[in-house]
Amino acid sequence: MDTEPALPCDESSAKTIRLIRPSVVVLCGPAACGKSTFAARHFRPTQIISSDQARALVSDDERDQRFSAQAFALVHCLIEQRLSINRLCVVDSTALTPAARKDLLDLARKYQVPAVILLLDVPLETCAIRDAGRERTVGRQVIERQYQFFQQIKSSIKQEGFDQVIELRDEDLDKVRFEIVFRPVPRPAAAADRPERRRFTPRPPRPEAGGKPAPSENRAPSLPNGRPPESA
Ligand SMILES: Nc1ncnc2c1ncn2[C@@H]1O[C@H](COP(=O)(O)OP(=O)(O)OP(=O)(O)O)[C@@H](O)[C@H]1O
Ligand SMILES: [Mg+2]
Repeated sequence: MDTEPALPCDESSAKTIRLIRPSVVVLCGPAACGKSTFAARHFRPTQIISSDQARALVSDDERDQRFSAQAFALVHCLIEQRLSINRLCVVDSTALTPAARKDLLDLARKYQVPAVILLLDVPLETCAIRDAGRERTVGRQVIERQYQFFQQIKSSIKQEGFDQVIELRDEDLDKVRFEIVFRPVPRPAAAADRPERRRFTPRPPRPEAGGKPAPSENRAPSLPNGRPPESA
């Protein structure tokens, strides 16, 4: 796969991160570390695929963990559809489990696009304060558990097969900039490559003067106005 060198791009602009479109960009970090805020700051709403939003779309409640399977099915479906037309996918979920990350990696491989993971390494106390200050809190216990787990897995993520693993500390979150480079993957079945769908059945050849119409395999019956009917 054609991938960019390890980032940041260069030392002088240490916080500029180059991303390829299409690619799968995975945000990873404990609850309330600032993933959704970070995503909203740097990417278009349509580029962000959020597990919370997917949960809300399928169940009417973004907090209802009973429907996570359905939510992630939707997340994966959206990723596939976007990758199939060479769009950027920024996945906003905790991505703390190996299975969750593997699913995303597999999708990137399937569509032959780079997979990048951004590890948001924010201090526990900062996460807890941010959680307490927001409308939808998950509570200190959840934050602590996810934070400890994140610290344990952080270093091993480098061996999982992501093309880039980028660690961002809290102080980096405000400084980082993204440069998005369009490098489309040729897709034989992409809509742009398909011929236009015909709206009308072609007219049969004109009959010889005085003779019967020439036989036509696909000839459609004419409407009273003499025009062939629209095809389905
Ligand atoms: N860099 C930041 N500086 C100050 N406050 C922040 C920053 N990033 C996020 N916040 C605030 O912290 C709270 C949690 O942020 P956010 O909802 O983005 O976290 P999250 O990682 O998406 O959480 P979850 O995993 O629960 O969805 C929000 O109230 C947000 O406004
Ligand atoms: Mg969030």
